[in-house]
Formats: sequence, structure tokens, C-alpha cells
Amino acid sequence: MPSKPLKTFVISHENELSSVIDFLKKNYPNSKIFLLKGDLGAGKTTFVKYFVQSIEPDYPVQSPTFNLVNIYQLKKLTVLHVDLYRLNSPEQVQEAGIPDILPTANYVFVEWYEHILPWISEAVMIHIQQEKDKRIIEIFP
Ligand SMILES: Nc1ncnc2c1ncn2[C@@H]1O[C@H](COP(=O)(O)OP(=O)(O)OP(=O)(O)O)[C@@H](O)[C@H]1O
Ligand SMILES: [Mg+2]
Repeated sequence: MPSKPLKTFVISHENELSSVIDFLKKNYPNSKIFLLKGDLGAGKTTFVKYFVQSIEPDYPVQSPTFNLVNIYQLKKLTVLHVDLYRLNSPEQVQEAGIPDILPTANYVFVEWYEHILPWISEAVMIHIQQEKDKRIIEIFP
């Protein structure tokens, strides 16, 4: 991750994620893979929910912690929501068949992404930190 973020947002309510998502869509119109960094409960899943619902309001988005991958089949797009918290190595990512399905998606969001990095050549990084009642969201090119 580069040391200096391209952009930093400080938000005090999750509905302000909309402005972060607007920024991403405007500045990264061709980006497909978004890597989400942040501690347990930082707001990674919530970010994906807002992104998906910016395309299709009310579309149900849930944490894929137990199934590794949720596939959201929107009307015009396919979104993969990956959470590798339970995996311990790139070999396990391979065994789960995740690299094989990456090309099928228009967007891929990955929580706990470390072990998928061998298959990622270009991505936007989103770092979410919780500080008291605020969230600091940094975007890295
Ligand atoms: N930007 C935000 N502002 C305020 N509250 C938030 C924000 N983002 C998330 N939350 C709240 O924090 C809690 C945890 O969020 P979430 O499940 O998205 O975290 P996570 O980073 O995906 O955690 P995990 O690593 O366990 O998957 C939720 O109750 C959510 O409503
Ligand atoms: Mg999560």
C-alpha cells in the first residue's frame, strides 16, 4: 500500500458512505477490484452494502465470513463479495476456487484480502479505521 492516500474521508454516520462511493465511481470508473482493509468491525461489509445498494437499492448484502464468497446478481452486473478471514494461505484461496470466478464479475470486493494478493494485479485499496464515533476512510490508488 502506498504511504499517502489519494483521498481521505472522515464520516460520522454510515449513510455518509454514499459520498465515498460517489468519489470512487467518478475517479475509478474502470476499476473492478476493491480491497478492503480494516479491523474487525471497522465497516468493510457495510461499505460493500452501500456500494451494491447504490446500484440496486435494497439489494440484500450480508457478511460472507462463513461462505467465503457471496455472489450478488444485480440486474446488469455481477458483484463478488469475498471475505477470507477464515483462510490461512493462498493455497486455501486456490482450493476454494476463488481465483477461477474472479473473471466472471464486474466488481469484486475483498475483506481480509492478504491471501488473494497473488491473483490481483490492479486494485483500489480502501482502508477503514474506527476512531471513537468516527470512521476514517482512506483511498489508495
Ligand atoms: N461508516 C460507519 N459509520 C458508523 N457505523 C458503521 C460504519 N460502518 C460500519 N458501521 C457499523 O459497524 C458495525 C460493524 O460493521 P461491519 O460488519 O461492516 O464491519 P467489518 O469490517 O465488515 O467487520 P468484519 O471484519 O468482522 O467482517 C456494524 O454494526 C455497522 O453498522
Ligand atoms: Mg465484514
